[in-house]
Amino acid sequence: MALSRGDTNMANRTLGTWMCGLLLGTVGLLLLPAHTAGTAQTPQPGLKPGYVGAAKCMSCHEVQAKGYKDSPHARAWDPRTPAAASACETCHGPGSGHIEDVGAKGRLRNFKKITPREASETCMTCHNREEHSQWQGSMHDARNVTCVNCHSVHTPKSETGQLKQETVTATCGQCHREKAAKIQRSSHMPVREGKMECTSCHNQHGSTNVRMLRAGNTVSEFCTSCHAEKRGPFLWDHPPARESCATCHDPHGSSNDRMLVARAPMLCQRCHVHRQHPASVYDANAVASKSSRLVGRACVNCHSNIHGSNHPSGQFFQR
Ligand code: HEC
Ligand code: HEC
Ligand code: HEC
Ligand code: HEC
Ligand code: HEC
Ligand code: HEC
Ligand code: HEC
Ligand code: HEC
Ligand code: HEC
Ligand code: HEC
Repeated sequence: MALSRGDTNMANRTLGTWMCGLLLGTVGLLLLPAHTAGTAQTPQPGLKPGYVGAAKCMSCHEVQAKGYKDSPHARAWDPRTPAAASACETCHGPGSGHIEDVGAKGRLRNFKKITPREASETCMTCHNREEHSQWQGSMHDARNVTCVNCHSVHTPKSETGQLKQETVTATCGQCHREKAAKIQRSSHMPVREGKMECTSCHNQHGSTNVRMLRAGNTVSEFCTSCHAEKRGPFLWDHPPARESCATCHDPHGSSNDRMLVARAPMLCQRCHVHRQHPASVYDANAVASKSSRLVGRACVNCHSNIHGSNHPSGQFFQR
């Protein structure tokens, strides 16, 4: 049986983070003074100068300790995790200065005080492969959004992915309220059925496409990665479909059929005004006559191959 997409991701990720754990381990080894190098063999190198070990931190910070202990970061048997490195101090930095005087500020890395970029860099020491390889320079990175705007290491609300909110949509909705609201009325069936999320289309960690889209190099290439029959090339192209599907469809949902940004004939009239047959100016009489240009699928009653046609005489997309 073939691996599902999720499984492949997991495999890639596992390899990616494992490699990075290995790298960190090696760096750690190199940094150790010669006389303590032997301790690097043990999974808990709590004896590094300046470090105090997780047990001490946990004795005072019960809340954080609880959230951490239940998380993948605490799996000490896994060499890629913080637990296998310096536990709490992997992310917060060496703690001896802090426990000398817990009231003194700035002796540890506090994710609420450091800049967004510094926060991201801490996480990126491990999470820098595959899914995450385009983070630097992504729109989120550029706009000072950081990992900890969406993730909570100690008090996550979601069942997977350590998110700050219960669902992906709610996490994105912290900032993109309008999009999160639209998706609820979406007629994109997979989204409505809960099989698709913001993250099915966007890689919030960065991508090479516009708008952080997961596949392709343009909006249309992205959509046709699933809707292959709309990809073309067609004998007769409808230029807007080649340019961007989002000219006519709102991928976040709309209250029109087929997620159209407007319904025909208005949609078509945005561009086609002067035509041999009336394409615009519908008065009360025309409406009352129930012209086929207005009712049902309106223009698309006749121009049914609206995305492009391969029929020799399909230049008007009627066949
Ligand atoms: C003796 C108890 C004690 C121990 C041990 C201890 N802490 Fe703290 N820590 C505190 C207290 C109390 C504060 C709150 C200080 C304040 O808000 O004024 C604090 C604050 C912090 C902060 C926020 C720091 C800041 O600059 O605002 C972090 C992060 C932290 N501790 C992590 C750790 C880690 C990691 C360890 C282990 C290396 C650790 N603590 C060990 C008592 C302790
Ligand atoms: C993977 C990195 C990471 C590890 C490991 C980690 N923390 Fe944190 N810590 C964070 C982040 C990020 C925050 C910001 C709040 C959040 O994400 O939940 C934080 C917040 C805190 C705070 C609150 C500081 C404040 O003033 O708001 C304390 C205290 C703390 N951590 C202690 C610990 C202790 C104790 C451990 C070990 C049991 C630990 N941390 C392990 C990343 C980490
Ligand atoms: C020392 C390496 C290391 C650091 C630093 C680190 N992580 Fe991780 N993280 C891991 C490993 C390893 C896993 C488990 C991955 C797996 O099982 O595939 C993980 C898992 C995760 C997960 C997935 C949790 C889940 O339930 O599947 C999230 C989210 C995450 N880390 C966020 C962060 C954030 C945010 C930071 C910075 C505050 C951070 N990590 C810092 C190594 C690290
Ligand atoms: C804009 C919000 C957002 C930002 C910013 C963000 N993430 Fe995520 N992250 C998510 C969401 C949503 C998921 C998917 C969770 C799920 O479906 O379980 C996720 C998944 C993950 C996972 C687990 C899945 C995987 O494939 O690796 C890790 C690890 C992770 N993020 C780390 C990070 C790190 C490190 C940063 C900062 C460099 C970061 N994230 C920034 C929202 C965000
Ligand atoms: C902490 C706030 C915050 C959160 C949470 C957040 N974003 Fe963003 N996002 C931004 C900002 C700021 C921009 C920059 C453009 C703007 O102002 O709209 C942006 C831009 C984007 C863009 C446009 C990128 C481009 O190239 O134009 C996409 C797509 C996006 N976010 C998706 C998501 C998704 C998906 C999630 C949830 C996983 C999410 N965002 C969560 C703040 C956030
Ligand atoms: C079916 C795929 C799809 C889904 C699902 C989706 N998006 Fe988008 N999103 C797109 C496309 C395509 C664009 C580019 C539209 C354009 O170029 O006009 C976009 C653009 C954006 C933008 C930036 C442009 C703008 O209009 O401001 C943000 C922010 C964004 N999406 C956030 C989200 C959030 C948040 C969710 C989940 C609630 C989400 N998207 C779900 C496909 C999707
Ligand atoms: C991950 C795959 C995937 C991507 C990417 C995708 N779609 Fe879909 N889309 C589907 C599935 C599955 C359906 C529902 C099944 C069906 O009947 O074809 C659907 C349905 C639709 C529908 C019909 C909705 C209805 O009411 O019947 C439209 C229109 C549509 N998609 C447009 C787009 C556009 C525009 C994009 C790019 C922004 C896009 N899709 C990206 C998978 C995808
Ligand atoms: C000129 C406007 C326009 C553009 C651009 C456009 N569409 Fe459409 N699309 C429509 C109309 C109108 C319908 C409804 C057709 C009908 O009712 O038969 C539709 C229907 C659909 C459907 C559902 C019905 C079907 O034929 O499967 C899908 C899926 C779809 N479009 C995908 C796309 C994709 C992918 C792109 C980009 C390559 C795109 N559309 C670009 C106007 C457009
Ligand atoms: C974003 C602008 C835009 C929208 C919206 C649009 N079209 Fe077009 N359409 C074009 C362009 C550009 C051409 C290329 C021919 C031209 O220059 O007139 C074209 C060509 C056509 C043709 C081929 C005849 C010709 O003049 O070459 C037909 C038929 C057509 N469109 C019907 C429709 C229908 C029906 C709709 C609504 C579902 C629609 N169009 C929506 C821009 C648009
Ligand atoms: C009853 C069928 C029918 C309906 C409904 C219809 N058309 Fe047409 N259309 C045609 C035919 C047939 C042609 C071929 C050229 C001709 O004979 O005039 C055509 C040609 C066109 C052309 C290209 C020729 C030109 O005049 O430049 C455009 C653009 C066009 N239609 C747009 C539209 C729009 C927009 C609508 C909706 C307001 C629409 N059509 C509704 C049958 C229809």
